[in-house]
Amino acid sequence: MKNQHKCNPRQAAGECAAKLVENGMVVGLGTGSTTAYAIKELGRRVADGLEIQGVPTSYQSSFLGAENGITLTTLDEHPEIDIDIDGADQIAGFTAIKGGGAAHTREKIVALSSKKFVVVVDESKCSDILSHPVPIEVLPFALKLVIKQLAELGGKAELRMGVSKDGPVISDNGNFIMDADFGRIDDPDSLGKKLSQCCGIVEHGIFTGVDAVYIGKKDGSVDIREA
Ligand code: A5P
Repeated sequence: MKNQHKCNPRQAAGECAAKLVENGMVVGLGTGSTTAYAIKELGRRVADGLEIQGVPTSYQSSFLGAENGITLTTLDEHPEIDIDIDGADQIAGFTAIKGGGAAHTREKIVALSSKKFVVVVDESKCSDILSHPVPIEVLPFALKLVIKQLAELGGKAELRMGVSKDGPVISDNGNFIMDADFGRIDDPDSLGKKLSQCCGIVEHGIFTGVDAVYIGKKDGSVDIREA
């Protein structure tokens, strides 16, 4: 199914996915530039009378949700979310790599708490095989041990450094972020499970179990793929 849309591919995908949200829903507010379009569209609908509550996945989406008039809530108050809309750095089928904005730990918690997990991307993010470096949130105390464990799994890991900040990026949870290059990832499910077993890794950016992908295209249309 395609929807014609007059704006840029990320905006097309984000705004189109926002249409899935219905009155009374609890909504996961993802992080990043594509999801920001969905959040702004939800804000416009809230101004028109839509009643929703949003669970932010980062300071970014918390600030953006509040600026756009969305009532914010927490997982403690709403452990089951109706729908989560979030971006991705790369997607193949219904598996995504996320964490380009260092928010993947909270993003994964929110995604796994949601009945429907929708990924919004522009077509440049789509691939047949995943190969994007995998963002890894690391407990600072365990940095060297994590580097060793990643190397044993075939990953070349780099500590993500700040822009407009000296030293490493610090996540919203107070941890370091590494980007681990595994080359071509033939079995993301298996790699994800191995990363989850590494001591000192808080969370990795491989997301399996995506329910729907909204792909914004250069011509303004949106391809919708349902799992
Ligand atoms: C945040 O940590 C990420 O998972 C983002 O959702 C991802 O990087 C996509 O962001 P963009 O929509 O800005 O590309």
